[in-house]
Amino acid sequence: MTFVRLAGRLTLLLAVACDRAADVPGASPSDVPALTAAGGSARGALTPHDSLIPVDFLGASIRRGRGILAATRDSLPEHVGNQLRCTSCHFDNGTRADVMPWIGVYGQFPQYRARSGGVQIIEDRINDCFERSMNGKALPSDSRAMRDIVAYMAFLSREIPVGAKVAGQGMPAVKPLNADTSRGAAIYATTCARCHGANGQGGVAPPAWGSGSYNIGAGMARLRTAAAFVRVSMPYDKPGTLTDQQAYDVAAYLNSRPRPDFSGKEKDWPNGDPPPDVAYPTSALAAKQ
Ligand code: HEC
Ligand code: HEC
Repeated sequence: MTFVRLAGRLTLLLAVACDRAADVPGASPSDVPALTAAGGSARGALTPHDSLIPVDFLGASIRRGRGILAATRDSLPEHVGNQLRCTSCHFDNGTRADVMPWIGVYGQFPQYRARSGGVQIIEDRINDCFERSMNGKALPSDSRAMRDIVAYMAFLSREIPVGAKVAGQGMPAVKPLNADTSRGAAIYATTCARCHGANGQGGVAPPAWGSGSYNIGAGMARLRTAAAFVRVSMPYDKPGTLTDQQAYDVAAYLNSRPRPDFSGKEKDWPNGDPPPDVAYPTSALAAKQ
């Protein structure tokens, strides 16, 4: 792995045959120096300052894109089928390190993804989250909203070389553990319910399960992904206070609760190579076995 220092502030790891997004949670390799201060925010490190947004048509598009990602349902009611917004999971407008930030992601597409078994452009990746995480409908690639979202994501990747991997991208993986949903239910009641509601219906925080939540085809419906997310980012006001085991237990509990279905999910991983924590059977794997 090769390190490049840019302007003394950005530490980038050149993506040497890295296909991090193919099997998220994509841990930052431990030999990548941390980009960010303790506390995990990428702000002040790689996040381009607002003053760099040009005062022109492109700048207006970048600002609209950021607005859509933070108020997705109000902006695009026909494309959102739950109570979430994009930044319900990609915190701080997609700039928080270790919580799937969008910084640097623009230059990592086109990209092969095993879930679709093909090469995706960034619009495809965005639409995956619309259809699954947001339980909604894909945006036409040539719509103004899609252009605005891509304009914002490209802005966030300003000056990051194409193909470069930024420390803090994805989420730190948590070693797989056997999870126990009854322990998870107890953790949920004591640690999560005050914000996400006793029945997962949401409150000051968005719903954790049920019709207002992400669907079964979402990355977050995978145990390892949910455990990594919860471990690094929840409880929101005290992130990092759960043990790995607690994160697995509560993630297993969340994903044992009902949530919307995703039709066509059995066609995922068409080459028969799903990760072990996918919550539904896929046809290509069944045909292989
Ligand atoms: C102090 C309030 C608070 C607590 C406690 C809390 N969360 Fe959250 N959580 C949030 C907020 C706020 C968001 C969305 C952030 C945003 O929209 O910017 C969120 C987002 C999430 C999400 C992604 C969006 C969704 O709703 O699906 C999950 C999953 C989640 N939290 C799980 C948990 C779990 C599990 C716990 C307990 C270990 C927990 N949270 C505790 C406030 C909280
Ligand atoms: C319920 C949580 C959740 C919500 C809401 C969500 N995402 Fe995601 N997003 C994820 C997860 C988890 C991943 C990576 C894991 C995976 O692909 O399985 C991801 C990955 C991405 C990536 C690729 C990031 C990378 O590092 O390669 C992009 C781009 C993205 N999301 C955009 C969006 C957009 C745009 C929205 C709103 C339309 C959105 N997401 C809403 C959970 C969410």
